[in-house]
Amino acid sequence: MNACLRAVVRTGFTNGVEVAGIYRGYQGMIEGDIVEMTNFSVSSIIQRGGTILKTARSEEFRTQEGRKKAYEALKKNGIEGLIVIGGDGSFRGAMALHAEFGMPVIGCPGTIDNDLYGTDYTIGYDTAVNTVVEAVDKIRDTASSHNRLFFVEVMGRDAGFIALRSAIASGAEAVLIPETTTYIDSLISTLENGWKRNKTSAIIIVAEGDEFGGADEAAKAVNERFSTWETKVTILGHIQRGGSPSAFDRVMASRMGHKAVEALLQGETNKMVGLRHSDLVLVPFENATKHHHKINEHLLELVNVLS
Ligand code: F6P
Repeated sequence: MNACLRAVVRTGFTNGVEVAGIYRGYQGMIEGDIVEMTNFSVSSIIQRGGTILKTARSEEFRTQEGRKKAYEALKKNGIEGLIVIGGDGSFRGAMALHAEFGMPVIGCPGTIDNDLYGTDYTIGYDTAVNTVVEAVDKIRDTASSHNRLFFVEVMGRDAGFIALRSAIASGAEAVLIPETTTYIDSLISTLENGWKRNKTSAIIIVAEGDEFGGADEAAKAVNERFSTWETKVTILGHIQRGGSPSAFDRVMASRMGHKAVEALLQGETNKMVGLRHSDLVLVPFENATKHHHKINEHLLELVNVLS
């Protein structure tokens, strides 16, 4: 997100536009927590995780009264256009500001979950996947040395993108995601087949939103019927949301921030910048928030074939 913010500020200045930063998202907007940005205020942030502007959930912004206060604060600070970095909740807020007050708004997709329709990647997703893969590589050392079966739970809210991509990159034996039905029988036969082929350990990646439950539930169900290997559960948690961003994320976020400013200056509004097949596109917020980003079935098949 910092790389995107840096690009927004510097593209603004290059185009002779003044740029302000709003702290703590919509809550900060309501409270008028708005500061003038300079080229210098975004120095040395491209390598930092999190967001220097901080973030917050705002119940007040969900009310029309709250949004009116937010709009008044924007007006008071002379703000004529808004760039929102966030997920579908942030974009719904942006749509409301546009619909109710005519505020021009462009969004950049920022979520590790990669669950937004209209973009192949969201800002933070690649970094989160790399963090998972690094952790699973380390876990595998214990799994193979001790002949153990590990269930590793990853984030993603109700989507399985982090789980699926990290399962392929870490060579996991199986992956459980909410987009497909989890059958414990077939998971057990995958493990038994591996054992027959002389495997001595296995790693199962479990998306936190899997409909069967998290890693604890899956481990318990499998362990009742398959106890060849000692079973362990690791829940990776918030390490997936921090740390220095990957080069891919930095470049993509920089491109998106730049494109967002250009789009706003060209009179575009109510749209999200997306990346489709390496090209930047503008996707109406309505599509980005209404439709589902679908899992690539081919990647799912790849996990099974390659395990
Ligand atoms: O939406 C991003 C995400 O990291 C999800 O993957 C996760 O379920 C959630 O946020 C965690 O949110 P919090 O930090 O508020 O618990």
